[in-house]
Amino acid sequence: MGLLSKIFSNTRKPEGFFGKMMVNGMNGGGHAQMANWALSSVQIKEDDQILDIGCGGGANIARLLQRAPKGVVQGIDYSTVSVAKSSKVNAKAIAEGRCKVQEASVVKLPFGESVFDLVTAFETIYFWPDIEHCFNEVKRVLKPGGQFVIVNESDGSGPMDAKWESLIEGMHTYKPEEIRLHLSNAGFKGIDIRKDEAKHWLMVTAEK
Ligand SMILES: C[S@@+](CC[C@H](N)C(=O)[O-])C[C@H]1O[C@@H](n2cnc3c(N)ncnc32)[C@H](O)[C@@H]1O
Repeated sequence: MGLLSKIFSNTRKPEGFFGKMMVNGMNGGGHAQMANWALSSVQIKEDDQILDIGCGGGANIARLLQRAPKGVVQGIDYSTVSVAKSSKVNAKAIAEGRCKVQEASVVKLPFGESVFDLVTAFETIYFWPDIEHCFNEVKRVLKPGGQFVIVNESDGSGPMDAKWESLIEGMHTYKPEEIRLHLSNAGFKGIDIRKDEAKHWLMVTAEK
């Protein structure tokens, strides 16, 4: 594996020194702009129960906590480095009992059925194995009528997408219609696709 691949594989699973650098990077710049673009159109109630999957550096957990001041926001990530950073960034809310961050994979979510009003997945589904199984897991933990929000910086048609896929083993940059098909096969309804054409940002929302 070349040095660039080694560094960028930390976007898939942050580990060690480069992983710590990567999660710091995830909390700023382009990720922040895109998250704000996406979240501005998501309806969130003040007491919502929310899960952020692949929470990385935890900046989106913090945004969601602001939007649901009487709710609880949980995060999961299968990277120890991501869990540590998310826990640090959201330490106050964790101490207040409004936030919990756990090390876990989307493949087997550590929750019962019908727990969450909203599940978010920012910049992470590219790395999920067996996507329809994972979408079924998300559906399982959502309440009936609950929303699933997927936000990707790559919409499968950007000039850099093939390059990212070759640099990061196991990455797949989904086209919107591929996501729609997998969500529909997993039983989601009301699937809606929004794009920022210039930036190739993609947001897909679906309902259980
Ligand atoms: C590019 S980062 C995005 C982090 C954050 N959501 C953001 O937008 O800044 C992808 C994150 O997804 C996590 N991830 C990837 N596959 C996962 C899986 N199967 N289960 C849980 N987390 C996963 C990685 O560990 C990493 O922290």
